Amino acid sequence: MITVSICASKHYDVCIQRGLLPQAGEYIRNVAGGMTAAIVTDDTVDALYGEVLRESLQAQGYRVVKFVIPHGESSKNAANYIALLNYLAEQSVTRTDCIVALGGGVPGDLAGFTAATYLRGVSFVQIPTTLLAMVDSSVGGKTAIDLDAGKNLAGAFYQPDLVLCDTDVLQSLPADVFADGCAEVIKYGIILDEELFDRLKQPIYPQLEQVIARCVQIKRDVVMQDERDLGLRQLLNFGHTIGHAVEANSNFAVSHGSAVAIGMCIAANIAAAQNLCSQECAQDIYDMVRAYGLPTNTNYTAEQLSAAAQKDKKRSGDSIHLILPSKIGRCEIHKTPVAQLQDIMEVGLS
Ligand SMILES: NC(=O)c1ccc[n+]([C@@H]2O[C@H](COP(=O)([O-])OP(=O)(O)OC[C@H]3O[C@@H](n4cnc5c(N)ncnc54)[C@H](O)[C@@H]3O)[C@@H](O)[C@H]2O)c1
Ligand SMILES: [Zn+2]
Repeated sequence: MITVSICASKHYDVCIQRGLLPQAGEYIRNVAGGMTAAIVTDDTVDALYGEVLRESLQAQGYRVVKFVIPHGESSKNAANYIALLNYLAEQSVTRTDCIVALGGGVPGDLAGFTAATYLRGVSFVQIPTTLLAMVDSSVGGKTAIDLDAGKNLAGAFYQPDLVLCDTDVLQSLPADVFADGCAEVIKYGIILDEELFDRLKQPIYPQLEQVIARCVQIKRDVVMQDERDLGLRQLLNFGHTIGHAVEANSNFAVSHGSAVAIGMCIAANIAAAQNLCSQECAQDIYDMVRAYGLPTNTNYTAEQLSAAAQKDKKRSGDSIHLILPSKIGRCEIHKTPVAQLQDIMEVGLS
């Protein structure tokens, strides 16, 4: 087993190992007392792994209750948040009990925000079942739900007490959902770790545990230095400002990972055109994105992309922070005036 210890506002471990799910109860018992474990999951994940988790928790003496949402982003909404709070209260879940998120980022974010606010905060365990959730959403303490006006607009910083990553569960992931997670993995390599990037040139499956652990370490190191997202954490946004613009233009028909992949390639183009990185570096990024079956370009125009990017919630005043590579393993934050954005996008798309 690989354990990555995280010391943010709370100390907790991220445990990564094949076959961990059936032992989840024992690990959870070590961090959470209480009588009741409330599982929050979606219907797809529940059908695959809900019973294994239930049995494992019951074997440790927990009374298990379960809240199942339909799969997909649209479930991360305010109505489900309130319904979950009411469900926990009806089930007499108390301060010493725990909430266990089983699933991808959608159940994870919803359960996390609920754990942060129910009774002003209860124990919270994440069992991520997508690659994206293992390397990204379950680490860092951001929790959120979507509002009608946009994604992740209501949330809280709330660290879990434990994260359990069982890489066996990734075998049932649809290929496109797995590829979405790979986009984030590639991102970590480009922003901070050339060795990870080189590792990804070999098949990923035989080295999944090591790759996930490295991504979690990178995110941990960044988040520990910037838990409340004030500076360094912006590096994690590489590919995301432009990616979000692609997602928004497609009305979210383009998946997050695909959009980030496109965003990373456009950013690489911009950096190469401005001599911030070499042509070879930009080419390496393209080749890697393509090797993982992810798209490298988009038909949206510079005007469409810059218009959407200006609405990004990370915009600060009259400028946007674009993250651009200087080489593999190193990226920098470039403050870009909104007025220049369209011209810069034009360069990135050419
Ligand atoms: N909190 C954060 O820091 C953070 C960071 C990145 C993303 N996010 C959020 O994460 C969400 C996206 O995460 P996601 O891609 O994991 O979404 P998701 O939870 O919707 O999972 C994607 C799909 O995969 C299915 N699935 C999950 N695990 C499976 C498995 N093992 N086998 C088969 N199918 C499985 C789900 O049912 C779902 O249909 C977004 O809401 C995003 O805002 C949060
Ligand atoms: Zn992302």
